[in-house]
Amino acid sequence: MKDFRDKLVYITGGSSGIGLATAGLMAQEGASVVIFSRRQQILDEALKQIKSRGVSAGQKFAGRSMDVSKRESVESVLSSALAEFGAPDVLINCAGRAYPHYFEDISYQQFDDTMKTNLYGIWNACSILVPHMKAKGGAIVNVSSMVGFLGVFGYCDYAASKFAIVGFSETLRSELKKYNITVSVLCPPDTDTPGFATENLTKPAETRAISASAKVMTSEEVARELIAGIRKNTFMIIPGFDGKLTYFLKRHMPFIIDRVMGAAINKTQKR
Ligand SMILES: NC(=O)c1ccc[n+]([C@@H]2O[C@H](COP(=O)([O-])OP(=O)(O)OC[C@H]3O[C@@H](n4cnc5c(N)ncnc54)[C@H](OP(=O)(O)O)[C@@H]3O)[C@@H](O)[C@H]2O)c1
Repeated sequence: MKDFRDKLVYITGGSSGIGLATAGLMAQEGASVVIFSRRQQILDEALKQIKSRGVSAGQKFAGRSMDVSKRESVESVLSSALAEFGAPDVLINCAGRAYPHYFEDISYQQFDDTMKTNLYGIWNACSILVPHMKAKGGAIVNVSSMVGFLGVFGYCDYAASKFAIVGFSETLRSELKKYNITVSVLCPPDTDTPGFATENLTKPAETRAISASAKVMTSEEVARELIAGIRKNTFMIIPGFDGKLTYFLKRHMPFIIDRVMGAAINKTQKR
């Protein structure tokens, strides 16, 4: 897909951070945008920003409260959205959460919540929308993370969910090709968002040391790469030079990544 004018874009997690930046850029591209997240007040504030970036009177903008981790909520809200707006041309599954901790401090409840939001959330939206997208084709982007191809200290539950998104998406991509639906995975590095600020509150010292030298991107920069990735039909969309380099090293010279991360961990633990 090259042109988003008059297209219909659904974005879960579209009220904040990377999802909100993507919604704004899609509005600027001439698309109609429906965003989904839990808190209505944040949805309403986000919608004002998204609308202000629209370029034509025919564009529609809406926000619907939905919890991606709850099957009943997704079934009911997306069924209503399908009836009201129709099947999306583009589905961006961006809703997600990260609460880094040492493995011993991650409760069963936290593991369950992370999987239900980050992984089941994507399953829930895809399983309801894909049957309706098949007739006209389209694009799906599932938001993973650099922690979706690189296990990083402090992210046991998050990494499990984000690695799983890559496997799910690669399989779905091959199954949906015949319907002219492309499937991509976005793997952002650290990105300056409200979610990232929350994540920083619980990071173990070792996790901080690993990410200390990494460049933090803006949500707008990440959203621009997401949209370029759809245009180029890239499977792994990895924003920024550092991210692309890390992906290359992890695949071809993983010992370098191990040494760099290991040194940061050892230094912190010796202190
Ligand atoms: N920021 C980073 O450094 C970074 C790096 C790599 C990957 N990512 C990934 O990028 C995505 C967006 O992250 P962000 O930093 O932009 O986060 P953010 O600012 O916290 O935004 C998260 C969005 O998801 C929604 N959301 C959270 N849980 C939800 C649920 N159960 N059901 C429906 N909506 C839910 C939030 O709204 P409500 O809370 O109102 O529901 C909000 O709209 C996530 O998948 C994250 O894992 C982020």
